[in-house]
Amino acid sequence: MLERWTAVDEFMEEAFIGDDPVMEEILTHSHEGGLPDISVSPNQGKMLWMMATLIGAKRILEVGTLGGYSTTWLARALPEDGKLITLEYSRVHHKVASENIARAGFADKVDARCGAGADLMQQMVAEAEEPFDLIFIDADKDGYADYFKLGLELSHPGTLIIADNVIFNGDILDEDKPWAHLEGIRKFLAAASAETRVESVPLSVVDRKGWDGFLFIRVRD
Ligand code: SAH
Ligand code: DHB
Ligand code: MG
Repeated sequence: MLERWTAVDEFMEEAFIGDDPVMEEILTHSHEGGLPDISVSPNQGKMLWMMATLIGAKRILEVGTLGGYSTTWLARALPEDGKLITLEYSRVHHKVASENIARAGFADKVDARCGAGADLMQQMVAEAEEPFDLIFIDADKDGYADYFKLGLELSHPGTLIIADNVIFNGDILDEDKPWAHLEGIRKFLAAASAETRVESVPLSVVDRKGWDGFLFIRVRD
């Protein structure tokens, strides 16, 4: 089915995104820099932009920058005085992302930080960083439960937390597959499900990347 899913995904991209040289350049430069091809797809990137726009997000936090592709989609939703902080562990990814973000024209709005996501978030909590309106979790899957917990401390009522890769082709149900990333996603889903301060809903996606999805989590009023 992947071929069919890819064809439909590309058809929709063509219809609703069309030519987007800035985004295409980010993917090309990331590829040339040797980064893995694991950014969100174009339609998913636009979905992130749509969500940030709908909630009028002024302050966005992202965990897992890679080449800055999802970062740039999210940054496009920011108002003039908006700000996005993005966290990346790999120095190489952080460097490529910083170049991409600058070339896309978002150097002033985006603060790309290099370090372990949990440490950098802990630091923000300790420094009483102003809460975020939207938090996008897309770094190492074993860290998701921690990013969720720390994300709650950096939230306000109504904050939207979006987590990528919560389905992994359905593998999250296979407890006999002992992979750390699946275990990490399961632990995160259990934590979100048990958390009474939030309301959550998954969105299953089939596209050129296979079958995966987002979890949307809204912090209760
Ligand atoms: N959000 C990006 C894709 C992120 S891929 C996009 O859609 O364009 C996941 C990224 O998380 C990788 O770049 C990886 O280096 C980074 N990562 C892995 N472990 C991390 C950690 N502990 N803290 C922060 N980032 C981490
Ligand atoms: C991987 C990570 C991602 O965030 C993603 O969207 C797809 C794949 C990975 O580590 O393989
Ligand atoms: Mg992802």
